[in-house]
Amino acid sequence: KILIVDFGSQVTQLIARRVREEGVYSEIVPFQSAEKAFREMRPKGVILSGGPASVTEMESPRAPQAIFEAGVPVFGICYGEQAMAAQLGGQVEGGHHREFGRAEVEVLEETPLFQDVWRVGERYPVWMSHGDRVTKLPDGFKVVAVSDNAPFAAVADVKRNFYGVQFHPEVIHTPNGAALIRNFVRKIAGCGGDWTMKAFRDEAIERIRAQVGQSRVICGLSGGVDSAVAAVLIHEAIGDQLTCVFVDHGLLRMAEAKKVVALFRDSYNIPLVHVDAEETFLGALAGVSDPEVKRKTIGRLFIEVFEAEAKKIGGAEFLAQGTLYPDVIESVSFTGGPSVTIKSHHNVGGLPERMNMKLVEPLRELFKDEVRALGRELGLPEAFVGRHPFPGPGLAIRIPGEVTKEKCDILRLADEIYLEEIRRAGLYDDIWQAFAVLLPVRTVGVMGDGRTYDYVCGLRAVTSVDGMTADFYPFDMRFVGHVATRIINEVRGINRVVYDVTSKPPGTIEWE
Ligand code: XMP
Repeated sequence: KILIVDFGSQVTQLIARRVREEGVYSEIVPFQSAEKAFREMRPKGVILSGGPASVTEMESPRAPQAIFEAGVPVFGICYGEQAMAAQLGGQVEGGHHREFGRAEVEVLEETPLFQDVWRVGERYPVWMSHGDRVTKLPDGFKVVAVSDNAPFAAVADVKRNFYGVQFHPEVIHTPNGAALIRNFVRKIAGCGGDWTMKAFRDEAIERIRAQVGQSRVICGLSGGVDSAVAAVLIHEAIGDQLTCVFVDHGLLRMAEAKKVVALFRDSYNIPLVHVDAEETFLGALAGVSDPEVKRKTIGRLFIEVFEAEAKKIGGAEFLAQGTLYPDVIESVSFTGGPSVTIKSHHNVGGLPERMNMKLVEPLRELFKDEVRALGRELGLPEAFVGRHPFPGPGLAIRIPGEVTKEKCDILRLADEIYLEEIRRAGLYDDIWQAFAVLLPVRTVGVMGDGRTYDYVCGLRAVTSVDGMTADFYPFDMRFVGHVATRIINEVRGINRVVYDVTSKPPGTIEWE
C-alpha cells in the first residue's frame, strides 16, 4: 500500500493512477489528516504531491514529521520535494526563475529511482511547474539530476530511501515518469503489484454500504458508460435501495434508449424509470440555435424532469452520479490559472443542492479507461463498455442551428451507417470518438437525372487519451468515400458529405 499525501496539486489523482497501473493500492489523503492515515494504514511507501503553496511562507502545509521517522521510503514531488527538504533541515527559496512546461534534466548519479530508466550523463525531457526551488540539501541527500533552472531537479538519500524530484513524473509530458514511479513503488517500497480492479470493486462496494446505510439512492442514467457502471456498482452494493431514472430527451442515437432499458431491466434487474421526454425537450429547443442556450436549456430541463420523477419515487436521501476524475478537473487548467468556460457541460450539477440530497460518486477517482475496466469487472457487455463517449446534450450539439425532430432522424441514420462501417473496418477501438453532424446548409447535387438540394453531413473521428486534447483520425480516403456513398444513397435529406480534419485545440471534439 502507498499513501499519497495531497498538498493540493491539480494532478494528484494522476499519481494515484500511475500507482494503480503498477497494480498497487494507494490512498490519497489531504495533508491535514495524513498523520492519522499514516498510522492506520501502515503504508510501505509515501508519496508527497505537488501543490500551489510556497514552502517559504509561514503556515504553508507540511508532511507529518512522523513519516520521516518511521523508516518508510518517501518520494516527494515538486512541492513535496520542497516540503521534505525544508522539514529535514534543507532550504527552499522563492522567486528565482520560474520554470513552467517542458524542460530537460541531466542525470548525475545512479540511484534505485532511475534504475533501468535513466542513465548517467544523459539528458531527458521532463515537465516542470514551479516557482520556488530547493537551494540547500538536508544532511544525507545528494543531487542526482539537474536542470537549467533547478539545480536540485532530483535528489536522493539512498540510505534512508528518501527521494525528491522538482519535475512532475506523473504527467504524460514526462515520458519516463511512469517508469520512475514504478521504480519507487515496486523496487524501493517493495509493493507487490497484485492489486486489481476486482479489489477496487470490493472496496468501492464497502464504501458505498458504509456511506448509504439503509437509505434510498436515486441514480440518473444518461445511457453512457459512466452512469451505467456507477449504477451497476451501487446496485451490487445496496440492491433495491437503488432506483435508476433514465431521462430520455429524444436526442439519443439510434435505438439507444431501447438498449439501455433492456440492459438494466432485463439483464440486471435494476429498478428503472424510463421517462420519455422527447416532446418536452424538442418543444423547448424549437427556434433555439445558439449553442450555449441549447446546452443550458437541456441542462435545466433535465434537472426539472429528473426532479419531478424523483419526487414521485420519494424518500431518497442520496443522489448517485458517474462523475469521473476528469469531470472534477475539467474546468481547471493544468497550471492552475483561471480558466474560461468554453462550453457549459451538462451533467446533473445543481441537482443535489436543489433537492437537498447527498452525493454518491463511486467513480470520482477513476479515469475513463479505468471505468471501462471496472465495467468489464462488473460483467457489463463489451459492446457497451467499449462505447465511445457521448455528450449529455446529445444530438442537439451535433446539429448546428435549430434542432428539429426531422433533423434528429436524418442525423441518427447517417450516424448509424458511419459507425457501422467503422466497426466493420475494425477501426472502432482505435478511435476515441466518431460521429456524424448535420450542417444547417443545403447544397446542390445531382442524383439520377434530377437536381437535389439537401443538407451537408459532416463526419468526425478523433483520437485522444482523455478528451482534453485530440487529433483527427487519419482515415484512408477510400474509406471516407465509401461511407459518403452509403450515406448519400441511404439517407434522405443528405446529398453531400465532408470530413472534419480539425484537431483540438484549436477545434473542440463536438461542434458546439
Ligand atoms: P469537447 O467538444 O469539449 O468535448 O472537445 C470533449 C469531450 O466531452 C464530451 N462532451 C460532453 N460530455 N456533457 C458530457 O457529458 C457535455 O455537455 C459534453 N460536451 C462535450 C465530448 O463528447 C467529448 O468526449
